[in-house]
Amino acid sequence: MILYDQIAAQLPGWRERYKALAKEHADVVVDQVTVGQIVGGMRDIKSLVTDISFVDPAEGIRFRGMSIPEVLKALPKPRGAKIPYVGGLYYLLMVGEVPTKAQAQEVEAEWARRADVPDYVYKMLKSMPKETHPMTLLSQAVLALQNGSQFAKKYHEGMKKDAYWEAALEDSLALTAQLPVIAAFIYRMKYFGETKKPKYSAKLDYGANFAKMLGVKDQKGYAELARLYFILHSDHESGNVSAHTMHLVGSALSDPFLSFSAALNGLAGPLHGLANQECLGWLLDVYGKFGNKVPSRDELYKFAWDTLNSGKVIPGYGHAVLRVPDPRFTAQMQFAKAHFPEDDLVRLADMVFDVVPTVLKEQGKAKNPAPNVDAISGTLQYYYGVRDFDFYTVLFGVGRALGVTPNYVWARALGQPIERPKSLSTKMIEDVVAKAAAQ
Ligand SMILES: CC(C)(COP(=O)(O)OP(=O)(O)OC[C@H]1O[C@@H](n2cnc3c(N)ncnc32)[C@H](O)[C@@H]1OP(=O)(O)O)[C@@H](O)C(=O)NCCC(=O)NCCS
Repeated sequence: MILYDQIAAQLPGWRERYKALAKEHADVVVDQVTVGQIVGGMRDIKSLVTDISFVDPAEGIRFRGMSIPEVLKALPKPRGAKIPYVGGLYYLLMVGEVPTKAQAQEVEAEWARRADVPDYVYKMLKSMPKETHPMTLLSQAVLALQNGSQFAKKYHEGMKKDAYWEAALEDSLALTAQLPVIAAFIYRMKYFGETKKPKYSAKLDYGANFAKMLGVKDQKGYAELARLYFILHSDHESGNVSAHTMHLVGSALSDPFLSFSAALNGLAGPLHGLANQECLGWLLDVYGKFGNKVPSRDELYKFAWDTLNSGKVIPGYGHAVLRVPDPRFTAQMQFAKAHFPEDDLVRLADMVFDVVPTVLKEQGKAKNPAPNVDAISGTLQYYYGVRDFDFYTVLFGVGRALGVTPNYVWARALGQPIERPKSLSTKMIEDVVAKAAAQ
């Protein structure tokens, strides 16, 4: 299998490098940890290893060393499409090289072969109360799939440590193949009361399949958006809540299904994946307040200040690491302007991009007054008729799996150990502070 062969070929070299760090250079100091970082959510402590993506504060995400515009340009695309194959992105993240069109299509074919979701998963989803949050349903479905984990099965049969990654890869392909099917089923069931099993077609790519299974009107347009959305939301280093959860749970050798179900539960939090629905909500509030019209610049300026003065944040703006407009925002804004520049919400989002950074700068609190990925993503879904806000985090979840599973595979391939940071008591930290003051 294509991903297997490529990873297997590279593995000896990577293992040597990782082993050298662990054995020969273990005492070299990389970073110092401050009290502020300890009590501030471990912010910026350099303590994770990944070669799959890196967030540069001044530039944004790079996947395997490539910026978003470079990735979108270099990856092969389906015929007539402007946005690349998701399979090509998965190859890039797994293997570290830009695939040929044939290689990207091979990954797509691997997905098509594994897209059948077992019946009991549908039954379980159908038995849940109607009001269950779609993220809960998605996480439950992933947990239910754990029953078929090759990693778990082979582990209990005594699989050798060197072979962990092979079973991890098999599970990762099954998981990423079945996620869009499950997500589409949840969408049709929850918002339309339909319980027909979605059909994944080997003739269509990942994005086009998703558009078809979701049942949106403009399938060609939405297929492009789905590809873009999944690519952009795939990976964002290892420190964010969903990626880190996947890594942490996986470090206990919990299989990819157990680990990803946990990651989804983190993604479901309002400070993480749920922010995109809040952002669209804020835009619609502005739009509604001005009689379903795009307001003037001055009216928007005042509305933004009113939001801040009422003690709320302006969703979609600011970032924990980034200090420039998120390139994932820029890519989606470019998509919107290329496809539906006259759409009111797109025009409004563009005006917000012009006005809100000024307001945040005047307020002087946010370290980064620029937009993040969430400032526009809901607007694009809304345009194509996907208007159930609480579904947006499910979309994020499908995308996120494409980034965290390559990390999981490589963590097992390199034999990364169980995570176990050290805790201190408040008194111990206060003692360190007192000692520092006395010096
Ligand atoms: C993303 C976010 C959580 C990052 O948090 P952070 O790293 O603590 O951000 P900062 O260090 O810049 O925060 C410093 C101050 O600016 C405020 N701030 C940051 N972004 C803000 C925004 N968009 N609107 C209003 N205030 C903001 C913070 O609330 C904080 O205020 P405080 O000192 O009173 O607690 C934050 O910018 C935010 O809440 N943004 C809006 C929600 C959002 O878009 N979330 C999606 C993230 S991808």
